[in-house]
Amino acid sequence: MIDIHCHILPGIDHDGPVTHQQSLDMARIAAGDGIHTVIATPHLTQHGLSSQEIRQLADVMNFEFRSSGIPLTILPGAEVVATLEPETLSTFTLNGGGYILLEFSLGMSSESLVESVYELCLAGFRPIIAHAERLPRIQRSPALVAELIASGALVQITAESLTGNMGAEARTCARFLLRQRHVHFLATDAHSDVRRRPILSEGLMVASSIIGDVSAECLVLQNPAAVIQGKGLNA
Ligand SMILES: [Fe+2]
Repeated sequence: MIDIHCHILPGIDHDGPVTHQQSLDMARIAAGDGIHTVIATPHLTQHGLSSQEIRQLADVMNFEFRSSGIPLTILPGAEVVATLEPETLSTFTLNGGGYILLEFSLGMSSESLVESVYELCLAGFRPIIAHAERLPRIQRSPALVAELIASGALVQITAESLTGNMGAEARTCARFLLRQRHVHFLATDAHSDVRRRPILSEGLMVASSIIGDVSAECLVLQNPAAVIQGKGLNA
C-alpha cells in the first residue's frame, strides 16, 4: 500500500515525531501494516520550510530505513494551505507531480473552498482535499464535496476516521462520502508511533465492506501510484 498523507519526517511538525528514532518506529509500524511507500507531508503553515529541506530529510531517513532493514520508502511532499501563491505551491507538490495536498482552514466559507479548488485547477494543479471528512463545514453539509469534485478536487479521507478513532462525526461523514463514491484516497495522516499511527489496513477493511475490495484497493494502491507518477487517475 501507499500512504499519500503522513507526518513521518522528524523535527518539523510541532505535533509530529521529534527524533529520528520516533520516525524509525513509525516506519516499522507502517511497513508491518503492508505500506511500502509513504509521501511525507509536513505542514507548511508555521515556518519557512523549503522543498529542498524536505527532500534532503527524506533522503536521510530513507538511508536510515535501509540501514535498519525497514522496507519503506519516503517520497517528498507537503500539506499546504490553500492561500499560498501558485509559485510557492508548485515547489511543494506530491513527489514533484501536479498533485497538491490541500489543507483548508476551518473558517473558510463554502464559496471560498470551491473558488480555491477552481483557481488551483486553472493554475494547472490537481488539488487533493486533505481529511475532507474532518472538516466541520463538510460534516455539516457533505453535499459540498460533490461541488468541490465538480470544480476539479480529489478527496482524501483518513483511515482512523473509518474505524471511529477520530470521533463519531468524522466516522459518519467518511462512510457517507465512501457510499457516495466521493473518495479518491485513503491515507493515515499519521503523526506518531503511539497516537495517530501509520496504519491503513484497518480503515481499508472498513472501506472494503462499504464499496467492495476492488474499489477500496484503488484508494491505497492504484490512485496513490498515479499521484507518485504524476499521471491522471483511471476512474
Ligand atoms: Fe496532516
